[in-house]
Amino acid sequence: MNQAVQESNISPSRPALHSGTPAMLNHVAWVTHDVGATADFYIRVLGMELASTILDENVPSTGDSFPYFHIFFRMKDGSTIAFFECPGLPERAQASHPAYEVFEHIALQVDDSADLLRWKAWLEDNGVDVLGPVDHKGIIESIYFHDPNGIRLELTTPIDPLWNRHTSRGLEDLERWCDTKKQAQDGGKDMTQALKGLIRDIRRSRYA
Ligand SMILES: [Fe+2]
Repeated sequence: MNQAVQESNISPSRPALHSGTPAMLNHVAWVTHDVGATADFYIRVLGMELASTILDENVPSTGDSFPYFHIFFRMKDGSTIAFFECPGLPERAQASHPAYEVFEHIALQVDDSADLLRWKAWLEDNGVDVLGPVDHKGIIESIYFHDPNGIRLELTTPIDPLWNRHTSRGLEDLERWCDTKKQAQDGGKDMTQALKGLIRDIRRSRYA
């Protein structure tokens, strides 16, 4: 088995070395330059409740003297999305590659496919550009859009009820990916070509 996989703590056969698994997503946090527009979007358009706010002149975790307004928006299960507005912050630097802006996103779950379509219509009625629905290999179905901060958001619903229980297959995929990278690196081969070969092999056997 690949060393990276072997050394990690992800094998179901490996004895637990930790105290358990975190219970739920408490929050993710981003910077906003317009907390008013952000609050309007998450409360009025996405239907979340304003859960909490914190204001301070210093960051408790680091002691940095960044004055801020911190706000949390709550979803049905109690998980939240949070923002910080800090006066005087320059605009965020551009990503070094467009892939960062495609891959990095926050996905929120809705009830079912019909609900997803209702959300698409509601978002469009509110002037939001929506991509999809997109079927992800019969596992989940999703629509994509951006919040006022440019954060890519996804609304998604599982099509496969076991979509987040494919652990054995996932461990195999992880091992093959890491091994392919190592072999390409050790053999001085083109990494991207090697990984594209692996992707094609897996797609042929799994999705043909
Ligand atoms: Fe996603």
